[in-house]
Amino acid sequence: MAGRIPEQFIDQLMSRIDIIDIIGSRIQMKKQGQNYQALCPFHNEKTPSFVISPNKQIYHCFGCGAHGSAIRFLMEYDNLEFPEVIEELAKSIGMELPALQQGHAKPKISSDLYEITEFCSKFFQKSLRDNGDQNVAVRYLKQRDVSGEVAARFAIGYAPPGWDNITSQLRSQQKELIECGMAIEKESGGCYDRFRDRLMFPIRDRRGRIIAFGGRVMNDELPKYLNSPETPIFHKGRELYGLYEATQQNRRLENILVVEGYMDVVALAQFDINNAVATLGTSTSKDHIERIFKHTEEVVFCFDGDKAGKAAAWRALENTLFAMHKGRQAKFLFVDEGDDPDTMVRRIGTEQFKELIKSAQPLSHFLFHSLLNDCDIGTLDGRSRFLEKCKPLLQQIPKGSYLDLLLEELSKLTHLKLGDADKLKSLIFSSRGKQESQPLKPKAKNVGSEQQKSPIRSAIAFMMHKPSLASYITAPDVYLSLNLPGGDLFVEMIKYLHANPNAHMGLILEHWRGSEYGSALAKLATFNHMIPDDGIEAQFDGVLRQLESALASHEITMLERKMHQGIMTLEEQQRWLQLISKVNQLKSTKKL
Ligand code: UTP
Ligand code: MN
Repeated sequence: MAGRIPEQFIDQLMSRIDIIDIIGSRIQMKKQGQNYQALCPFHNEKTPSFVISPNKQIYHCFGCGAHGSAIRFLMEYDNLEFPEVIEELAKSIGMELPALQQGHAKPKISSDLYEITEFCSKFFQKSLRDNGDQNVAVRYLKQRDVSGEVAARFAIGYAPPGWDNITSQLRSQQKELIECGMAIEKESGGCYDRFRDRLMFPIRDRRGRIIAFGGRVMNDELPKYLNSPETPIFHKGRELYGLYEATQQNRRLENILVVEGYMDVVALAQFDINNAVATLGTSTSKDHIERIFKHTEEVVFCFDGDKAGKAAAWRALENTLFAMHKGRQAKFLFVDEGDDPDTMVRRIGTEQFKELIKSAQPLSHFLFHSLLNDCDIGTLDGRSRFLEKCKPLLQQIPKGSYLDLLLEELSKLTHLKLGDADKLKSLIFSSRGKQESQPLKPKAKNVGSEQQKSPIRSAIAFMMHKPSLASYITAPDVYLSLNLPGGDLFVEMIKYLHANPNAHMGLILEHWRGSEYGSALAKLATFNHMIPDDGIEAQFDGVLRQLESALASHEITMLERKMHQGIMTLEEQQRWLQLISKVNQLKSTKKL
């Protein structure tokens, strides 16, 4: 989906969906008073600390802090982008998507392309079922010990021989067939099938849509694997074969194994190891790593033990460093020469393979020992060469506990004394300057960042929890004169709530998402989360008094300026007196 979705549409959509239906159809939850409770789907826990509020239309996890509206939930849980959530939600309740506001438009991807790849996949799967046991592809799968169940889970199919099995079925869509890589254009015009007489592995994106194929010959011909080219729906360097299937098997993956081949993923699944993914004949990229860490805290690279495998592992290591935040792990497992995970798991079985994964070497080990290979740290010279080599790699790791552990290990390796880790740190980062001075991000408006809540911030937070409070303020514009940080949002929100009296927190969050206030509001939403409704009015009233007193003081200052200039009218004098007594009154009630 391209372009910007109009706010109004999102408001309408939000008011027609119910967070309880949306979360309830995905996880088990139990009614608990006004709210619902569940085991948090975003972190591992044994007792439920995930609360869903039907009134506020938000969820909140008291364990890990996950928080947001129904839309946010779908983005996190189903791993979708914002426009994709809107698209799916709209579809689910039969709302037509509006014409998009232009300006932010990405090149439009014809949704037909997904229909075509889906059609092809169905056709390949059907061709696999033709002729029963006589089917060459079925025979090949049997010979490689792939069960029908696993073949079905990965939607493995067969592209029969012939130049036009696909193209003859989709004559009117030749342009699209070429665009999505299923057909190749002839110089003389027209096109022919790209995949012929191959075992077909469909590649799915994170939503499960088929975006490309890998096709294997079933004899010794070359190339062994033919892959879809880069297309508008397929970017090889970003996709991981098997990731969708792995997340379908298990939402919370203890770890993800990165292997080299399609058949490795399939064979491991056959042996009930359902967390393997393969890069598509490319090296592991930063995009891959980011995607992996969205689903797990631990990645295990399982590569060949030969020179090529080690080189691939080193490239993977280089592209993993930047993502090594606190709590994350990366490990390396090298399979025996001549083996790959496919042959290995068949030889040693599930349990032993799992043991190997457990005992895989940690990133730090692989990193230091690869570099140690050609430095003799018994000598001063060798030590300094070793440190120089470590430097550019360690510099890429985000500061934090993971890096500290690594530095500690490094100081042990280089026989530095205890306490020298700090020295090492300053040595390593002495030239970090440039890298670290990132371009200044445009600052989001400062509404919710301070620890202590100003009256404006508190008032906004209270209204998010109980939108009906906005009705107490009939003329919000006066507050603009105070020029307080967040004042403009405060006024905007009151007007919005006047116009949308049924709004709830979920809707408010979505209304301002992506605006300059978006992240500040998300923070304010968790401020005193789930405050009981009965206490909130009194607190809001207190805040309004503070604001009223600020308004009065402001007006007094303006009037006094006139007084000093000697241009104060009689009415203004009376107003001034009234204000003074009002401020005193507000102050004394506050003291009570
Ligand atoms: P491998 O040659 O190790 O293949 O290539 P494999 O997965 O073990 O396959 P089998 O066991 O022989 O059937 C690893 C990966 O490299 C890419 C594919 O993604 C393959 O899965 N590759 C390999 C190609 O893209 N083209 C090729 O010709 C070969
Ligand atoms: Mn193999």
